[in-house]
Amino acid sequence: MSHRAIVVDRPLPDARPEAILRRVETAAAALEGGIDVDVLFSSVNYKDAIALTGGPGILRSLPLTPGIDVVGRVRTSADGWSAGDTVITNGGGLGERFDGGLAERSAVPAAHTIALPDGMTARTAAAIGTAGFTAALAVQAIATAGVSPDDGEILVTGAGGGVGSFAIALLAARGYRVAAVTGRESLADALVDLGAERVLERSEIDVADGKPMQSSRWAGAVDSVGSTTLVNVLAQTSYGGVVAACGLAQGPDLPGTVLPFILRGVTLAGINSVEAPLARRREAWAELATLPVDVIDSIAPRTEPLERATTIAREVLAGRVAGRVVIDTRA
Ligand SMILES: NC(=O)c1ccc[n+]([C@@H]2O[C@H](COP(=O)([O-])OP(=O)(O)OC[C@H]3O[C@@H](n4cnc5c(N)ncnc54)[C@H](OP(=O)(O)O)[C@@H]3O)[C@@H](O)[C@H]2O)c1
Repeated sequence: MSHRAIVVDRPLPDARPEAILRRVETAAAALEGGIDVDVLFSSVNYKDAIALTGGPGILRSLPLTPGIDVVGRVRTSADGWSAGDTVITNGGGLGERFDGGLAERSAVPAAHTIALPDGMTARTAAAIGTAGFTAALAVQAIATAGVSPDDGEILVTGAGGGVGSFAIALLAARGYRVAAVTGRESLADALVDLGAERVLERSEIDVADGKPMQSSRWAGAVDSVGSTTLVNVLAQTSYGGVVAACGLAQGPDLPGTVLPFILRGVTLAGINSVEAPLARRREAWAELATLPVDVIDSIAPRTEPLERATTIAREVLAGRVAGRVVIDTRA
């Protein structure tokens, strides 16, 4: 028995890895502790885009199928799941340590798998995906740390991306006032429609030679950019503010000082979606399930077939995708 999957491998020992859509043998039990599912939808996250284009640091071994998101239907009853249940898996090693969701079949890790929330469609769950899940973890980190809507504005960087777009929608739904930062002026109206009160150009935040301490502007922030942007955001965060660090779209470095921490009591909260325990997953997805479907669809309006995933990956890395793209693995 075989199924279609995107497989990343090196054509020659020293060559750059390439992604090819092909038929692969379906292993009976591909993963210990894994649940055997028919994949319904996946998506192209930033990590998937790197893996699909042969970039380093994501796939731990080759050949491997990328795809850190799976929305799938359980094939055989096991681990408390019944055949036919629809499940969501984000991260947990999918598409990094073992074969991921850009395939018709997958074995998803039970420890990182939850049920599709009542009333949510499989496509909507994939539209949310790891990006929305990560945004929910970030927003919950800010709220749990005690930052309330009365404390001031929350900044969202990388606002036009998947994590940023969902962060805006979730923060606005909780009553926070959101300032969105984007490098794409053309997205301003869409970001306001998602719930941003105002939209700032990247250069307004990522100031060149930014001072270690700058005027207090933000009660908190969701940052998916890292590097000098995150350093400037920390320097602009008010006393007691909380900054949730989610990503590294600008870079993994953090060339700053400890002054915001020791002079303003700023908290830098690290967000990791990959290893998040089940209880955190259920809590985050319960909040995501309250977002209106038209808001989610506006963040992820496109559904593309498996064979287009690598093309979408290039668009993501070139900064040409606003929000997210869903992959229909059966198309
Ligand atoms: N911690 C976790 O568990 C976790 C989970 C998911 C994602 N992530 C990370 O979070 C980041 C965002 O993921 P995503 O899925 O939202 O990716 P995405 O959809 O590609 O969005 C990234 C956004 O960052 C902004 N950006 C890109 N290059 C930039 C640069 N050089 N300087 C400043 N801003 C830049 C762009 O926003 P504008 O065009 O609006 O400026 C872009 O849309 C990635 O680094 C990803 O690996 C981490």
